[in-house]
Amino acid sequence: MLIAGNWKMFKGAHEARAFATRIRHLPERTQGVDVVVCPPFVSLQAALQGLGEESLVRVYAQNVHWELDGAFTGEVSAPMLLELGVKGAIVGHSERRQHFGETDETVRQRAEAGLEAGLSVIACVGETGTERESDETQDVLARQVGVLPRHERLVIAYEPVWAIGTGRTATPEMAQEAHAFIKSLHDAPVLYGGSVKPENALVLLGQPDVDGALVGGASLDPASFEAICLAGAEVAAA
Ligand code: 13P
Repeated sequence: MLIAGNWKMFKGAHEARAFATRIRHLPERTQGVDVVVCPPFVSLQAALQGLGEESLVRVYAQNVHWELDGAFTGEVSAPMLLELGVKGAIVGHSERRQHFGETDETVRQRAEAGLEAGLSVIACVGETGTERESDETQDVLARQVGVLPRHERLVIAYEPVWAIGTGRTATPEMAQEAHAFIKSLHDAPVLYGGSVKPENALVLLGQPDVDGALVGGASLDPASFEAICLAGAEVAAA
């Protein structure tokens, strides 16, 4: 079970350090759950400092470039992240696909390079509302999952775009159906993302093919992030 908080473009260094300090002992209360936070690039180091050497909470970036270095203004490479103590990266988040021209091909390149360099990778897939309404969900998932490498450090996050930041969570049955389909294509663990909150975490995480959650808004508040991680531990113990 993996619970990852994607902070998106929230929390500068000061807030990231304070949050990390507060949750650094959380994994001691959430047996069976890997706890991950994904701060913005500029706050990665502060989060690591707030956690300290002993904490079992891991820090991932929200993206990673496919080259080791080079003329790629605004990008960050896997070796740079590893040097800081960052253990993984999200790739292919729908906000990157929608607003920053990320494609299946760039997602594949980012995932492969990150894994090769030694990072863990959470690769995001998911259909838009229009695609779901026109019955294209499986085609979209097959295309997006199809490019992802097979690797023991790869985790897939199913994030239906229409459920992100909208409060419209997929029903547990919808999540389960999509996760089972993804698992028929790829043998990676699959996280659910899209309006996960303390109130719905238990039932979503309790689905047989839901291996964790990628949490946006509800990961910004330490109390609600803790509650979701505790729900994960409850499911892991069951
Ligand atoms: P919300 O939890 O805010 O819907 O965001 C989900 C998400 O995009 C996590 O990556």
